[in-house]
Amino acid sequence: MRYPADKIEEVRSRADIVEVIGAHVRLRRSGRNFLGLCPFHDEKTPSFTVNAERGFFHCFGCGVGGTVFDFVMRQEGLTFPEALVSLARRFGINLPQPQAGGDGASGQEREKLFAANQAAAEFYGHLLWNAPEGAAARAYLKTRAIAVETGRAFMLGFAPGRANALVETLGRRGLIDAAVKLGLVRKDQRGALYDTFRARLMFPIRDPQGRVIAFGGRVLDERLPKYINSSESPLYSKSRTVYGLHEARAAIAKADRAIIVEGYIDAIALWQAGFKETVAGLGTALTVEQFRLLSRHTKNLIACFDGDAAGRKASMRALEIFLQAGLLGRAAFLPPGFDPDTLIRQRGAEAFKETLDGAELLIDYFLRGQQDAAGGSTEGRARAAAAVADVLSRIADPFEFDLLARKAASMLGVAEEVLRREARKATGTRRPPPAPRPEKSVKPTPLEDAQIGLLALVVHFPQLRAELQERFTALAGGELGEALGEVCRSDQPASVLAPLISNRLSEGIRRRFSEWMVAGLPPDETQARTLSQDYCAALERKLRLQRVAELRTAAANRTGAAAAAAAQELIELRRRQREGASKA
Ligand code: UTP
Ligand code: MN
Repeated sequence: MRYPADKIEEVRSRADIVEVIGAHVRLRRSGRNFLGLCPFHDEKTPSFTVNAERGFFHCFGCGVGGTVFDFVMRQEGLTFPEALVSLARRFGINLPQPQAGGDGASGQEREKLFAANQAAAEFYGHLLWNAPEGAAARAYLKTRAIAVETGRAFMLGFAPGRANALVETLGRRGLIDAAVKLGLVRKDQRGALYDTFRARLMFPIRDPQGRVIAFGGRVLDERLPKYINSSESPLYSKSRTVYGLHEARAAIAKADRAIIVEGYIDAIALWQAGFKETVAGLGTALTVEQFRLLSRHTKNLIACFDGDAAGRKASMRALEIFLQAGLLGRAAFLPPGFDPDTLIRQRGAEAFKETLDGAELLIDYFLRGQQDAAGGSTEGRARAAAAVADVLSRIADPFEFDLLARKAASMLGVAEEVLRREARKATGTRRPPPAPRPEKSVKPTPLEDAQIGLLALVVHFPQLRAELQERFTALAGGELGEALGEVCRSDQPASVLAPLISNRLSEGIRRRFSEWMVAGLPPDETQARTLSQDYCAALERKLRLQRVAELRTAAANRTGAAAAAAAQELIELRRRQREGASKA
């Protein structure tokens, strides 16, 4: 591959597949996916499906599918490297070998914006830690019990009280235009430039790769507004960003969970107390995009809410958003009157851990609420059942739906079948079922089908790779056998491997692979493991039968040493088969 895998991942994660495809296809959300009319064949009912979370599209009508790269290749008639370069340029990512031609202006401009933010963060950081001017801010951090190492990890800084300290610093580096665009610097009525952030403790907001994309700035006292924040810019959209993700990323992967809090300070305090998998929203209610961004790192999201009535109400709004993002989501309710920062400081990390341990699935919390509200009356139960059916209809995952329908029916004392029917009705009004049509290109054989399923599983569930690797010696060979072997030896995450592998597969096979990525994967590792073992066993059997047939023909049609070798291998195969059968 000409480009390093991490660059490809960076392009893929920044080049939002919904945004890229959405420029050509009108997409609307449907459960966990997006649906639209396929741009590659004529259709009246939408069967073109995009799974944003896994970064794949697939048309259930004509069968085309793949990653954001495949889409751009097909739509614009480009090769893979060309599509990569085109997307990188569009989303302002520097590739190691810049290609000649093209305008590149937007990429260059973004680089300037990044440079201005970085320079500002360094300037603020220097003032906080090293300058006499930063003394008050250093003292303030002490009162908030934020240690120096913690402050440095989050790149905290201090914006001085002077009117144009940043204007001067960035002006010297030719970054003023960029700073104006970012909202770091403003113009007064007479056109004079001044610093937006003055006498504030500065919180750089970073993208998952660690680049500064915006700032929040807090006063050091009780004045209002408490925080001001960078404006939205080509680098920063607050509804699509979570604070602290870069700092928390590794811990989220390790713990396989993310804790979501409200404030910058809460995220920092929890991180410092050892809950390093913590992120925060950005002053607005949590959004689908934020959940989707997090769900690329873990499906296990715990949002913290105040334990009072307002917090509980907020949690029910969050349930809606979680479901829209295709997630269930948990809620941890803090003791009333506390936020994570004050809880940790006044009662210690242990108290917060208890709160976390008490976290429950929002949907369970919702069901209990409905159960209480239903009371004994028929009317009340009917009303609750209708509300529950509506929420159930938003659950895209069939396994989750099944479990929850059962649970809800028994909690409300209504017939499960009725609940399911009502939920399906509600779903039907939102999502017309895709109309499958036969695809034209070469269909995978049943053997290949099983291999593709296995490939999708090991790509998506890295934990399965090691345990399946040894079995693949039997399955090696052919494009799929090779791809399987390669994936099993790799320690790259699915986000990196999936597009690389998909790109190498031949058309008919890639179509099936994209179908798996969009709609086929089981929800958890346990089910994935069972499925993969079934596939392995089926594959081994099929391959053995195929080999037996080949050997029989060879033994019958050849003479001398060749026939003898075939016969010998046949005997050997039968013996292994008998041993395998007696072991099982
Ligand atoms: P909080 O008021 O809870 O702030 O607002 P905090 O981060 O916990 O700070 P302390 O503990 O009071 O010092 C939660 C978040 O809402 C946004 C910020 O993102 C803040 O972290 N916010 C709040 C603003 O953007 N502007 C404001 O004026 C207040
Ligand atoms: Mn706070």
